[in-house]
Amino acid sequence: MMILAFPDYLRQCNRIASRLNIPLVEIVLHHFPDSESYLRLPPSLPEHVIICRSLNQPNDKLIELLLCAKTAREFGAKRLTLIAPYLSYMRQDIAIQPGEAVSQRIIGNLLADLFDDVITVDPHLHRISSLSQAIPIKNAISLTAADEIGRFLKQKLENALLLGPDSESEQWITRIAHVTGFDYCIAGKERQGDKQVEITLPTRQYRNQPVVIVDDVASTGRTLGNTGKRLQAAGCKDIYAVVTHPLFCGDAETYILQSGVKSIWSTDSIEHRTACIGLDGLLAGAIKTIA
Ligand code: R5P
Repeated sequence: MMILAFPDYLRQCNRIASRLNIPLVEIVLHHFPDSESYLRLPPSLPEHVIICRSLNQPNDKLIELLLCAKTAREFGAKRLTLIAPYLSYMRQDIAIQPGEAVSQRIIGNLLADLFDDVITVDPHLHRISSLSQAIPIKNAISLTAADEIGRFLKQKLENALLLGPDSESEQWITRIAHVTGFDYCIAGKERQGDKQVEITLPTRQYRNQPVVIVDDVASTGRTLGNTGKRLQAAGCKDIYAVVTHPLFCGDAETYILQSGVKSIWSTDSIEHRTACIGLDGLLAGAIKTIA
């Protein structure tokens, strides 16, 4: 077995490789002036190769993944495993308006054609319950970072209320509540546009109550930020936020911090300054179950 690491996920890959005690080779990646990608892999590969990279900024990364997987097969890989802690293109699972591309199905099928196994963490699945419905292969493995997040919060805070911004967050929050022993509640969310998000807090006492807002993804930061604003207006002073995937597009981080959130924490599914919760143990454990 060998890990092929893209440079943007190298730090995390090194930790996975040392947990599994297997060799790691960094992929040589270059971008030409017109933004075409150049990749170089070791010209001879073992039978089982693990390719690791989160698929944020997906359009470039998916092309590079295609080049990498096809080249790895040419160089001897018989079994290809993808570890993509953040998996993009999982939201559009139906055509809401006639003519829309159902990108989840198209990208899912592309990954199924390229890989024997796909491992990801907290994928954003709406209307389907299992990852294999989106990526039709035997080992389409969806992990959750809830236990890692729970253990982190438990050693960081003595007590706090966990707050999910929408009903979808309940699946993670209940597990984090179980690990931490903290109470939890779920807010109501209505999204009118990319940056138009309305949050309604459940009625309860927030004054002098530390609160951690928990979500799977922070993209524009409006969900976390507007939840923070509501909590602040309700008298809450100690507001924290934790997410699995720190996408933080544009002004997201500033917006959240200016909305009364004191600290933002995230997993290292994507390299980011808030990434303080390692996923290497979780991902290495998943490799052990399939290898
Ligand atoms: C949506 O349902 C997700 O769970 C997140 O709440 C959402 O992706 C966050 O997006 P944003 O940061 O743009 O509000």
